[in-house]
Amino acid sequence: MHQMKDDIKYVLADEKKIQETCDRLAQQINKDYPDHNRELVFVIVLKGSVLFATDLIRRIDRPCTMEFMKVSSYGAGVETSGFIQVSLDLKRDIKDVDVIIVEDIIDSGRTLQKLCSLLATRGAHSVKCCTLLDKPSRRQVEMVADYTGITIPDEFVVGYGLDFAEYYRNLPYIGVLDPSVYSE
Ligand code: IMP
Ligand code: MG
Repeated sequence: MHQMKDDIKYVLADEKKIQETCDRLAQQINKDYPDHNRELVFVIVLKGSVLFATDLIRRIDRPCTMEFMKVSSYGAGVETSGFIQVSLDLKRDIKDVDVIIVEDIIDSGRTLQKLCSLLATRGAHSVKCCTLLDKPSRRQVEMVADYTGITIPDEFVVGYGLDFAEYYRNLPYIGVLDPSVYSE
């Protein structure tokens, strides 16, 4: 029987490494947002960040809220164009609140750059970004997350929320997808 793990070339981050990364990021955030008087909103970017976000926010030890957005960047083929389309927007205003955008991965950097500036125009007190994975070698625009989990090489990864053609999100670890899967 064909199994998902047969499509994984190697494991980049196992469950232990992911949990340690969530511990470290949450500790930094807990330390950086001591002012409980201002609302802290986690804006979770669907769908890839969902597994990460649930592990991250259960480690946040101060009051916070969560909201969801869905954005897609579109262009020719696999390259992003820099235009982002908001297909699910926030249902509330974020004026004067602290926002932390939760992303699964920064690749070209275009999606997160546009999203940060969009949310900043809505009057948030602050907008910061927290990404589980970062592929700095692929960057096309200057974009550095405020909280970065694991820096990875230029490989296409899946699992723990990240997909290829909507599959593999349910893998509990992050692995490099065998190129034979997408070159078939
Ligand atoms: P960016 O605008 O190029 O930074 O696009 C980032 C988005 O591309 C992420 O939110 C992912 O949806 C997708 N992406 C980039 N690299 C990978 C990968 O290795 N695996 C799965 N999705 C990826
Ligand atoms: Mg994504």
